[in-house]
Parts: sequence; C-alpha cells; structure tokens
Amino acid sequence: MSIETIGVVGAGQMGNGIAHVAAQAGLKVVLHDVKDEFVQRGLKTIDKNLQRGVDKGRMTADDKSGTLARIEGATELEAMAGCDLVVEAVVERLSVKSEIFGTLDRVCKAGVILASNTSSISITKIAACTERPERVIGMHFMNPVPVMKLVEVIRGLGTSDETTAEVTELAQKLGKTPVECRDFPGFVSNRVLMPMINEAVCCLHEGVAAPEAIDEIMKLGMNHPMGPLTLADFIGLDTCLAIMEVLHEGLGDSKYRPCPLLRKYVEAGWLGRKTGRGIYDYSKS
Ligand code: CAA
Repeated sequence: MSIETIGVVGAGQMGNGIAHVAAQAGLKVVLHDVKDEFVQRGLKTIDKNLQRGVDKGRMTADDKSGTLARIEGATELEAMAGCDLVVEAVVERLSVKSEIFGTLDRVCKAGVILASNTSSISITKIAACTERPERVIGMHFMNPVPVMKLVEVIRGLGTSDETTAEVTELAQKLGKTPVECRDFPGFVSNRVLMPMINEAVCCLHEGVAAPEAIDEIMKLGMNHPMGPLTLADFIGLDTCLAIMEVLHEGLGDSKYRPCPLLRKYVEAGWLGRKTGRGIYDYSKS
C-alpha cells in the first residue's frame, strides 16, 4: 500500500516534529490533539522551525507555505479515518495509549498501519489493544525530529514483515535512517541512553560535581553534543523517569532504579525546558 496521508496523534514536541518532516516530504498530514489550542501551538512550532530553513536559504517561502498547507488540524480521532498510517506521539502512559489505539482501531480504514512513537512502552502490549496486531509497530523518532536522522523501528511480537517493510520505506522517504530492533524494555536507544542520564543525576545527587561540570565533562570528554543533564531537561524529566520505571520494572534489575533526585524534580513539577525549570532554570532565557 502506498502511504500518502499520515495522521499524527499528539501535537507536542515529538508530534509536531513528525508532522513537520512528513509534510516536508510531500505527504498529507492530519495533526491531532485534544484541544485546538494544542494543535495551534504545534502548528506554530512547525512554522517557526520551517522558517529556520527559509532563513538559511535551504527552502523557499513558497515551499514553506506549501508544507504548512499539507497539514490539517483535528481534535477528534475520527479525522484519522482516511489516513494510511497513524503515528501516536502522546504522553508515556500505557492507559492513555491503550485508549487511543482502541479508538484508532475502530475508526481507521482496513489496512491502516498504527505506529507508536513510544520511547519505551511495549509495542506488543499496545498492539494487544487492537484487533490488528500485525499492523502495529514502533516508529521511534528522536528529538529534535527535523534534525535527528534515526528512526528506531520496533517490531512487536505480532508485527508482520509487510508492515515493517512499509514503515522502513516511509522512514526513508522522510529522509531518516530506519534501524530495526526487537520489542524489549527501552528498545536499544533508551536502554543505553537513560541509565547514563540517570547516573548523571545520581552524580548530582551525591555531590560528585556541579551540574555544569557533569555536563562539561561528558561534552568535552565523550564528544556528546549536549551534556546528559541538559539533554534530560531537553527530553523532559518526567519522560526520563517514566522510561527508567519501564526499565526497572520490565527488566527487574536494581541497576535501573530511578535516582531519588530525578523523582523529586518530577514531584516538584520541574520537568525541564518545557516547564521553565528542570535541572537548570530556564525562566529567564
Ligand atoms: N527544528 C529544526 N531544526 C532545528 C531544530 C528544530 N527543532 N533544532 C535545531 N535545529 C537545527 C538548527 O537550525 C541548526 O541548523 P544548521 O546546522 O543548518 O545551522 C542545527 O539544528 C543545529 O542547531 P543549533 O545550532 O541551534 O544548536 P546546536 O548545534 O547546539 O544543536 C541540537 C542543537 C541538534 C539539539 C544538538 O545539541 C544535539 O544534537 N543534541 C542532542 C540531541 C539528542 O541527543 N537527541 C536525542 C534525545 S533522546 C530522544 O529523542 C528519544 C527518547 O526516547 C527520549
């Protein structure tokens, strides 16, 4: 089946990035969120990020308006009825995802692919909320989506070869490099990345070094583009904690225990850049 129209559920930082790259690649996009103000905020971010390309002479103003014109906003999941593939990019909570996949299974056409951008929740569990587990797959984009090359393609237990091949082809069409892996907690990306971030928060918690020093050591010493604490704020501390919980519970090993300080920050509502305060304070910038 050729994929021409894609739906994106969730217009937040990942969802608007996915809508951006899909529309830029010439696909029609339906961008959904529960409130119109969230959809409008997502569209505004896409506009701002496309403008970077115009300012740098990589895209014309006409290309930008053509890209934006391919995105239609929606607040009801019924708007996904005509989509060939839907990617869900909402909060990392199984209960929320289950409800969305159950509804998508009911309202979407036969043959649709239902993908999740989950960073750690089991694709097999999500697929079990539908009557078509062979058409359910993980399509894990990295933040910021327009910049990062990887799409981690995660096969659930029942995902078919055909679905995997179609999603691989789509990721390439979006200018990304798909890499396949199996459905185990955290997949590969977050099984390796999150314990490093968690350990950086432990260093802070134990007073091993100041946050700036921890970040500088990892940036200069390991050639990482961002230090782990800056990256944690960028990803969202709530997302980091949710992923550590999935690793801890799913793999049953105490080495994945979330750092108590990470929990404290989340309890305080200091979730990172998106709330203006995380490990660092962004309220003045
Ligand atoms: N949309 C479009 N373009 C963007 C962008 C966005 N949101 N953010 C940055 N850019 C572009 C800039 O325009 C710039 O383009 P040029 O090179 O053409 O000038 C380029 O990206 C670099 O940006 P900046 O110069 O502003 O800043 P930088 O050099 O510090 O790079 C960064 C910013 C790309 C975010 C870089 O710091 C980086 O790669 N950080 C690490 C990101 C990372 O690890 N992401 C994965 C997180 S984990 C995840 O997403 C998965 C999960 O499950 C948790």
